[in-house]
Amino acid sequence: MPGRECFETVASSPDHASERDPERNIRGAFEHGKRSEDMSAGRAAGLETLPSRPPKLVITSLTVRDFRNLAKVEIVFSPRFNVISGQNGQGKTSLLEAIYFVATSKSFRTHRSAELVRHGQEAASVRAEFIEDPQDQGLAPLVREQHAAVAGARVVVKIDGARPSTLASFATRSPVITFHPDEMALSTGPAGLRRTLLDRLSLFMTPESADHRSRYDRAVKARQELLRRGSESESEIEAFEHLAAVHGSALTRIRAQATSALLPELALAFGRIAAPDLALVAEYAPGGTTDESEASAALRSSRRRDAGRPSPSFGPHRDDLVLSLDGRRARIVASQGQHRAITLALKAAEVSVIGHARGISPILLLDDVSSELDAERTDALFSYLASQQGQIFVTTTRRALISLPEGLASHERHFPVSGGQIPPTSE
Ligand SMILES: Nc1ncnc2c1ncn2[C@@H]1O[C@H](COP(=O)(O)OP(=O)(O)OP(=O)(O)O)[C@@H](O)[C@H]1O
Ligand SMILES: [Mg+2]
Repeated sequence: MPGRECFETVASSPDHASERDPERNIRGAFEHGKRSEDMSAGRAAGLETLPSRPPKLVITSLTVRDFRNLAKVEIVFSPRFNVISGQNGQGKTSLLEAIYFVATSKSFRTHRSAELVRHGQEAASVRAEFIEDPQDQGLAPLVREQHAAVAGARVVVKIDGARPSTLASFATRSPVITFHPDEMALSTGPAGLRRTLLDRLSLFMTPESADHRSRYDRAVKARQELLRRGSESESEIEAFEHLAAVHGSALTRIRAQATSALLPELALAFGRIAAPDLALVAEYAPGGTTDESEASAALRSSRRRDAGRPSPSFGPHRDDLVLSLDGRRARIVASQGQHRAITLALKAAEVSVIGHARGISPILLLDDVSSELDAERTDALFSYLASQQGQIFVTTTRRALISLPEGLASHERHFPVSGGQIPPTSE
């Protein structure tokens, strides 16, 4: 089937890292000391914008082979702020995509993993070292190596050379959050973007949500195919509707919980980014129901109508997250600037919810975002970033556009990209 993805975790290989070096994590604690000193130096300089504690999750180094136009890249990152600059088409987004891929096994640009492989090559691979620092909990920092590779449509992932138990357990280990230009339509654009946002939160809050979603999608597809063919097999249709009702109602419950977690964070973030006298409220508008038998009944009664449609007229694939400003639909009343502020607030709220759910500050990947924002919003974004603990990556065609608060600027490392090449790291 075109575009169909195949995910596979691979059994631990005999040379996997923890077997090779059982003291790896202990040694990591000492290597990590350098970063702590860097951070203390920043604090000693009296940089109030710098968070009082260092980031909890850091990607220290990355090795990329044949991923998009990046033939061979080996880099060491700043634990705090990394700027990737270059002309159009040089490989900036590809580098962020490589980080996202090694953290999640997915791309934020495509569902077709085969597109990630450099033209003319058989396979692409990305390897990264992460440090997870429990900080004040009296434990040593954990070092791990994540690896993701793709050949054709087959994706293979490993953590320290070993197979993760599930895709969700891999994808939630090292949380990364993208601020991507396409997402600048989160406030005004189609409901699908907002459903995806809820699903990203759900993955961290309720990891089995991914399983419910894929089972729901499969059941709905099979039911639609039977209806389209005019199948007379009542029992077969009923069986798929039952599955759609079970997994669809679970998904509705999970997304409702995700919305509840999002609401307070969204109000807080919007208050900081936009005028504090405006109230932003998000309301979950389910296309289905939390009640399994109600869902089954709704599907049964809409068979005739649904037979000519690509998808059912009832169910969570029709969900939306309705945004209101002072009680009025944001989609209708919000100004351009307000839409941008809503979008940034949604992303900031996503960072908070995932950070709380996972107990770690996510890594933030910002792809050319300042080109989409006005000066005021860009300033708001960067002061928000300065208040965040997490490690940050920003791409830009014009480095001069990035005017950082001092607390970030002193921790910046710069990577110029040209023709898929990145020179060896310079401090
Ligand atoms: N599978 C692939 N193999 C080789 N090159 C590819 C592949 N996919 C995309 N490219 C090319 O990689 C180059 C870098 O793309 P990328 O999106 O990373 O650029 P960018 O630096 O982010 O540019 P922009 O500033 O325009 O966003 C482009 O020329 C693109 O056509
Ligand atoms: Mg780009």
